[in-house]
Amino acid sequence: MNPLRISVFASGTGSNLAAIQEAIDQGKLNARIVLVISNKSDAGALEIARNHKIPAQYLALENFTSVDELDQAFLNALKDHKVELIALAGYLKRLSSRLVQTYKNRILNIHPALLPSFGGTGMYGRKVHQAVLDYGCKVTGVTVHLVDEEYDTGAPVLQRCVPVQQDDTVETLAARVLEQEHKIYAVAIQLFAENRVIIQGRKVFVKSI
Ligand code: GRF
Repeated sequence: MNPLRISVFASGTGSNLAAIQEAIDQGKLNARIVLVISNKSDAGALEIARNHKIPAQYLALENFTSVDELDQAFLNALKDHKVELIALAGYLKRLSSRLVQTYKNRILNIHPALLPSFGGTGMYGRKVHQAVLDYGCKVTGVTVHLVDEEYDTGAPVLQRCVPVQQDDTVETLAARVLEQEHKIYAVAIQLFAENRVIIQGRKVFVKSI
């Protein structure tokens, strides 16, 4: 099978982007990152992309005259690079309805908690882990889910648990969760690369090989 052509959208450091590329390099993921997009010109993700000679674009509203024009730029870039699947990795902007519909069931996001807990608007970065600790949870985790028009509401594709330790701080917990993120995202994308994902409403089934 040809490698799945993916685009990664990221606003931050891009460690998930790096992990996806590493899984590809190690032969664990049959995909090719053909485009990286960021809404932040100084995102670490753009730097990582350039270091790997992956085409990278900074697309933000401030460089366009309207939301529609920005949207068109996204769609053009994705079409130009023949993108088959989009992986959001710390991308903090909501996607337009047009983009979501164009790539229906072909957009994934990774969230550093077990959705539907600790997700939604404003729940990102250390705030997620702080909320988990404040609640006194004994377990948290990672969710890879399909993306719809809202934040963190699409159907889960894969979830993995991470235990919360009694002496955890936001930093120690975030690091342990991130370690799992780096493993699970490539696994989820590989399911799409192998055409093993069946989506029926909110249920995502995985065909066994
Ligand atoms: C990750 O924790 C991811 O779950 C969340 O944003 C963070 C991105 O981290 N959506 P990085 O930029 O990939 O290091």
